[in-house]
Amino acid sequence: MTQRTAFVTGAMGGLGTAICQAFAKDGYKVVAAYHPEYDNKDEWLKEMAAAGFKDFVCVAGDVSNIDDCAKMAAEAESAAGPIDILVNNAGITRDRMFAKMEKGQWDAVIATNLSSLFNMTKQVSAKMAERGWGRIINISSVNGVKGQAGQTNYSAAKAGVIGFSKALAQELATKGVTVNAIAPGYVATKMVMAIREDVLKSIVDSIPMKRLAKPEEIGALCSYLASDLAGYMTGATLNINGGLNFQ
Ligand code: CAA
Repeated sequence: MTQRTAFVTGAMGGLGTAICQAFAKDGYKVVAAYHPEYDNKDEWLKEMAAAGFKDFVCVAGDVSNIDDCAKMAAEAESAAGPIDILVNNAGITRDRMFAKMEKGQWDAVIATNLSSLFNMTKQVSAKMAERGWGRIINISSVNGVKGQAGQTNYSAAKAGVIGFSKALAQELATKGVTVNAIAPGYVATKMVMAIREDVLKSIVDSIPMKRLAKPEEIGALCSYLASDLAGYMTGATLNINGGLNFQ
């Protein structure tokens, strides 16, 4: 079998890094997509090389911009061949109570966390269907499932990710292409560590397992969803949240 190619957005963040590493271990060619303003790319590549991951192809672009997505997909295809696996992982937070939330904070989160799925998936889904094999993995969040005070924008976008995944899964079900969402709880990444200390403490106290997720625990789930044996799973939302209550 020819080596498959996986394309991961937000690749250089905590979760993205773990997903790239999981795929590299599985033997895929990995394309790491990152925001052009991210200025630690060289350092990230050095860290990856030191950890034994030397072959990542990097492409830069803003996932909220469809032209950037087209350019990134074209670059990825010429460097690594057709994209077999897409992970829509890029995401941002602009947390604020709704009473104080500004329109720009709403728009930014919807554009990066939800419209990005349209922009990136458009570049690959028809080609996957033509080839008769593909995996689209969308990173949602426990807060898209249960809602979170201070995150009307983020919760709405992440709930939208689940709806998108369920709908597209039906459209591609007979084409060999699966579409699933992963809804992680609080993962030990920079995004979560940026939460105010007292707020984060009360969040961790509310998690039955009393700890944050390790990024590699989410990477392992991506690894499974990308595999041939996950071929019968589509339209699913995989909750991985330490038992965090949905009520
Ligand atoms: N439910 C209901 N009300 C709440 C609340 C909650 N969970 N938390 C706070 N409030 C109320 C407070 O009691 C307070 O009310 P009063 O003004 O009447 O006293 C009011 O909301 C303001 O609360 P804060 O003092 O917290 O306000 P702030 O402006 O200092 O901070 C915030 C607002 C930045 C949104 C902060 O509350 C916060 O960071 N919350 C956590 C949000 C969160 O969970 N983000 C997740 C980020 S990580 C991620 O998103 C990854 C993932 O997928 C899980």
